[in-house]
Amino acid sequence: MTLGPRGLGKGILEFVGLIIVANRAPFRLTPEGPVPAVGGLATALLPVLEAREGTWVAAREEEERRAPAAVKGPVHLELVSIPEKEWRGYYGGFSNRILWPLCHYFLERVELKREFYRDYQRVNWRFADKVLKVWREGDVVFVQDYHLLLLPRLLRERAPRMRIGFFYHIPWPSSGVFRILPWGRALVEGLLGADLIGFHTQEYAENFLRTAAYYGFPVKEDRIRVGDRWARVKAHPLGIDTERFRNLAQDPHIGLQARGLKHLAGTERLILGVDRLDYTKGILERLLAYERFLQSYPQWRGRVSLFQIATPSRTSVGAYRELKRSVDEVVGRILGNFLRADWVPLRYFYQTYTQEELATFYRAADVALITPLRDGMNLVALEYAYTSDSGALVLSNLAGAAQYLKEAFLVNPYDLEGVAQTLDQALRTPVGERRERLTSLKQRIQALDAKTWAERFLASLETA
Ligand code: ADP
Ligand code: F6P
Repeated sequence: MTLGPRGLGKGILEFVGLIIVANRAPFRLTPEGPVPAVGGLATALLPVLEAREGTWVAAREEEERRAPAAVKGPVHLELVSIPEKEWRGYYGGFSNRILWPLCHYFLERVELKREFYRDYQRVNWRFADKVLKVWREGDVVFVQDYHLLLLPRLLRERAPRMRIGFFYHIPWPSSGVFRILPWGRALVEGLLGADLIGFHTQEYAENFLRTAAYYGFPVKEDRIRVGDRWARVKAHPLGIDTERFRNLAQDPHIGLQARGLKHLAGTERLILGVDRLDYTKGILERLLAYERFLQSYPQWRGRVSLFQIATPSRTSVGAYRELKRSVDEVVGRILGNFLRADWVPLRYFYQTYTQEELATFYRAADVALITPLRDGMNLVALEYAYTSDSGALVLSNLAGAAQYLKEAFLVNPYDLEGVAQTLDQALRTPVGERRERLTSLKQRIQALDAKTWAERFLASLETA
């Protein structure tokens, strides 16, 4: 498969066929047509393929059971059918009740069930069959994330000359933590089928190198020997589509809407939180920190309002349903304690928005409070800093983004008093300093641009 014209000055992506493989498709197929998926991976990779006729291989989701196996949408989509029971074990089980909590250091939430692993293996086999069906000699296969750790090896065994890149979108934990998994060696071996393995930060890449060394693979600098070949490991941070967010930041209609939103808040300052409703995002702790802030800094009462947006996520997993109940409860308590006839201290939106709507929130907010307890990168932080013209970004030092966004107001999200104090500091920071910080942040975010990311990753893959 050839993508686009061959010619001088074209990027590497235009010379090779590209197959992206991810659990999720970049859009959901609804009776009304394709709807963009929420989440970092889809948001970042869709623009990469949109302009080219590449293939995206993804799992067929529950509500898409009746959709055809191959779909011509914004990109060519090949769907992997997965029986319901296997899907539960692979997605709700191994991916989101074992790997997700483990990699985010929520060890007490890890449920080591063997049947989950069996379903995970089966689904990875199904993905391998599908990729091998669409792959043509010379095509590059780019596999995404923790759902498909076994896939690179399965592909390598059946097509030894295949060029395979892998990007891990979540943190790779320290080797001591990864070793908790009874299947740790098989997972690492699976991943080592790739030629190039990318992570958001140097820390995650080093953790992976140490994990591979623990399982006995020879490691030399950033390379790992697997039989007679080498796999390369690299920090290769993925950011946002900056052109898209620049346009949103300059859109006069969005500017107008943002002023309306600020008016709705009815306060001098608007504070914003935007996340999937996930325990790693620290929403509960953030609300508690905000409650502490209102108690400790009474001068802000009546003058600030927090808008917390939480997108429904992984609702088939019990921990996510429990989190929703806990968040509802704390929201109710804060309102019960602080609400006045002339002041709404907190508004909680449990819904999904379009990017234009999110940009409206970003532009209206004076402070973004992005405080995950652990996060591979956190694209919301980048989106906010890139869209806002005079806001302040308060960011968790446990998000991958903190490695890059040095001019943010960095906080420890577990330290409620510290978050409250930094929130007060951010709110008091003069507009001049906020703008200076944003200017530097925007330059850093520009360097992480999503559209050039795959291009750069595949260029590294060529030399790996
Ligand atoms: P994760 O990948 O864990 O979901 P990120 O912050 O890296 O977290 O990416 C989240 C992406 O989902 C961002 O691009 C953000 O714009 C989008 N998003 C988050 N919340 C919402 C929402 N309520 N409605 C629509 N999109 C959302
Ligand atoms: O960032 C990790 C990630 O799993 C992405 O791969 C995905 O887009 C996002 O979180 C949302 O998760 P899910 O696909 O399980 O809804």
